[in-house]
Amino acid sequence: MSSKLDYLFEVRSVSKSYGSTQALSDVTFTLMPGETVAVIGQNGAGKSTFAKIIAGSIQPDEGEIYVKSCRVTLFPPKNALRYGIAFIPQELAYVPKLTVAENVMLGRIPNRKGFISYKEMIKRTKHEAKRFGLNIDPLRKMSSLKLADKQIVEILKALSRRASVILLDEPTASLSDNESKNLFRIIGKLAREEKVGIVYISHRMDEVFNFSDRIDVFRNGRLVASEQTATSDHEKLIAHMLGKQREQITLEKFEYPSANPALSVLNWSSRGLPSLSNVTFNVKEKEVVSIFGVRGCGAEIVAEGLVGLQKEIEGEIILEGKKRRIFRNPLEAKKANVAYVPADRKKQGLVLKLSIRKNATLPILRLLSNLGLMNSLEERKTAEKYTSRFNTKCQSIEQNVSELSGGNQQKVLLAGRLAMNPKVLVLQEPSRGVDIGARLEIHKQLKEFASEGTAILVVTSDVEEAVNISDRLLVMRDGALVGELKGEKISQDEVLRLASGNFQKNGGVIK
Ligand SMILES: Nc1ncnc2c1ncn2[C@@H]1O[C@H](COP(=O)(O)OP(=O)(O)OP(=O)(O)O)[C@@H](O)[C@H]1O
Ligand SMILES: [Mg+2]
Repeated sequence: MSSKLDYLFEVRSVSKSYGSTQALSDVTFTLMPGETVAVIGQNGAGKSTFAKIIAGSIQPDEGEIYVKSCRVTLFPPKNALRYGIAFIPQELAYVPKLTVAENVMLGRIPNRKGFISYKEMIKRTKHEAKRFGLNIDPLRKMSSLKLADKQIVEILKALSRRASVILLDEPTASLSDNESKNLFRIIGKLAREEKVGIVYISHRMDEVFNFSDRIDVFRNGRLVASEQTATSDHEKLIAHMLGKQREQITLEKFEYPSANPALSVLNWSSRGLPSLSNVTFNVKEKEVVSIFGVRGCGAEIVAEGLVGLQKEIEGEIILEGKKRRIFRNPLEAKKANVAYVPADRKKQGLVLKLSIRKNATLPILRLLSNLGLMNSLEERKTAEKYTSRFNTKCQSIEQNVSELSGGNQQKVLLAGRLAMNPKVLVLQEPSRGVDIGARLEIHKQLKEFASEGTAILVVTSDVEEAVNISDRLLVMRDGALVGELKGEKISQDEVLRLASGNFQKNGGVIK
């Protein structure tokens, strides 16, 4: 029988501020062996700050941390690791050029008489993988793996270091349903069989309910609620997150006449992976159309094709009545007034070391400086107008984007694209990493924006998002469009039925 003193770690009254931002206030938290805790909260609530403190990446201003009843300093990460705490951040820190085995053993490559014993390394990696029923080739280059597998390798790395605590910051944000379930299968096994303590941050309420023992809620830097999952409920948790009852926002669905589509995609095919076959659809002025499909279904290729990022597609587009060839590069798309919000905001969307003002106005710089002079007043006004539409949490628009929480970065990205006032706006996973409140707000803003004339195409693997936002919803499977739903006909069940090829979706809980 374990007593309270057997905790893996305990954080007592920890606080952290950045200038005038109190990121974390007086947080006390205990993790027991084998316990899985889900951490939820709005964007900017302090979740990542909390995780970074436990991972030793930042030092708290105040408070104490204990591991097995001894007071410890977890900073820097090397120290946290020594105390058995492994952190898997959302932006994975692997070495792309090395193999899986080299990454798993990084820093501890077994050495025999001055030589690295690759054999030993591979044997150990295989052994670790086998323990978790994972089928990963230790000799594959890290860069060639799918994101989900990269994440699994990071977990293997943590495990092979005999971590007793694994922290994950939004591990499933970019994973498909099945990949997420697989990740939680492994995590569940670790907790049950090895008594590893797990803390993970998530914005996905369904997974939080299916895969945790306890749910802790952060709001404005404070830990405001800690509930046993079995006895908690959705609305109660959301009320803790928001500090009030949730407003219900139901967005109206419109049917637009078929004349005058702003954009038509005609007979798109490609042989890449995944391949596209005969994809044809259109988006009308003022309309929000989404393409729903599991990640890897081909919808992301369509989005990229529309903004000049896919060169292998055959087919045509019609933009504002004119037939033209598919854009060869992003500049062509931009010139045609087609704007894009990529799925990977850090790599493609934002310049992290620039201010919010710069990021929100970069896409339209040429418009604002038409006399060769930068009108910084205009720039500020535009940045303020669009970032405030999304309630971006920041100190001022002069703050660097790198200092914003993940969800707030996403809002800056959206603001910049809307400021372009595009004819067509293509978005992938627009509310990824965004909290439940902000998500509805983003949907509402996109709808409003559409009503002002922009044709909007949303590519998403999030069924709730697709159902909520679309006037018309297309379902894609294996590179082909397999169904279309409009207005009242749009429902989660119907979408999932189409996406899975008529089979009932497997909603089984794996834990
Ligand atoms: N390096 C930094 N400099 C200045 N402010 C920061 C820094 N890191 C975080 N903050 C601020 O601290 C607050 C908490 O941020 P944190 O990243 O912990 O939020 P979060 O709960 O993880 O949000 P999200 O769900 O959007 O990822 C935010 O207001 C953020 O802008
Ligand atoms: Mg975060």
